[in-house]
Amino acid sequence: MTGFSISWLDLREPADVKARSKLLAQEAIVWLENNSNGFDNILVDLGSGTGSTLRTLTTLGARNIIWRLVDNDGQLLDEALKRHSKHLLIEAYQADLTLIEELPFGGAKLVTASALFDLVSREFLDSLLETLSSQKTALYAALNYDGNIEWTPSHPLDAAVLKAFNQDQRKDKGFGKALGPDATEYLQQILESKNYKISTASSPWQLNATNYELVSELIEGIVGAVENDYGLIASDLTAWKEFRIAHASSGTCNLGHLDLLALPLQPKILL
Ligand SMILES: C[S@@+](CC[C@H](N)C(=O)[O-])C[C@H]1O[C@@H](n2cnc3c(N)ncnc32)[C@H](O)[C@@H]1O
Repeated sequence: MTGFSISWLDLREPADVKARSKLLAQEAIVWLENNSNGFDNILVDLGSGTGSTLRTLTTLGARNIIWRLVDNDGQLLDEALKRHSKHLLIEAYQADLTLIEELPFGGAKLVTASALFDLVSREFLDSLLETLSSQKTALYAALNYDGNIEWTPSHPLDAAVLKAFNQDQRKDKGFGKALGPDATEYLQQILESKNYKISTASSPWQLNATNYELVSELIEGIVGAVENDYGLIASDLTAWKEFRIAHASSGTCNLGHLDLLALPLQPKILL
């Protein structure tokens, strides 16, 4: 079990779809088409869950792709197969992403991930990006949390809760000390040094009353993450939670993410 349930992934997907940069997603699709011979476009989606990235890219026009979905949660992979294997070519790999040398990158032109890289460590990315760059594989990494959450109406404890939450985001999530809000910057830094062209775009959740259920779950999740280790007074945190839940059906929540697309530059030809 990883703690990412089908119901949670389903709940967040509409907000994710709305948030993703369509420009970067389309650029990834076009790059894949331009770098293929038409029938063997292998795409590896890391931490695929039930296939959110597959759905997004397919809706935006991705075609003729062999989808290699990789996740350590067999239930999520089964759900992805149940939803899509009639119409799409899917290979499901139940695997631990930390065992990078065992991941099915052979022949892959594009590696994708969504809502994943804020969970991982520098060391994990160092190894992963070394592997991808050695094969000149492109990377599309969407929905990396960027450390910003803005609420309306505001509450005096917002800043302290956010500070604690961002500290918690840097705790080990199974990959070593997590990058949390620093993930996109680190990806960019390493990939630039490996001769990739990088594009980034803001992809915030822009939530309002129509997202009441997601906002409520988010509030519960934040409180669960910060209630023990960060010195917040329990009664203050309870008051913050009650205030936030009371305004979830009228206020707004803007939670920042960044999307990144890294395309390998052709090696320079020295004359
Ligand atoms: C936040 S969810 C995102 C799922 C999907 N990409 C989406 O956008 O809906 C993170 C995913 O990473 C998977 N995951 C987390 N740690 C993993 C690990 N060590 N090995 C394989 N998958 C992992 C989880 O099972 C989950 O499906």
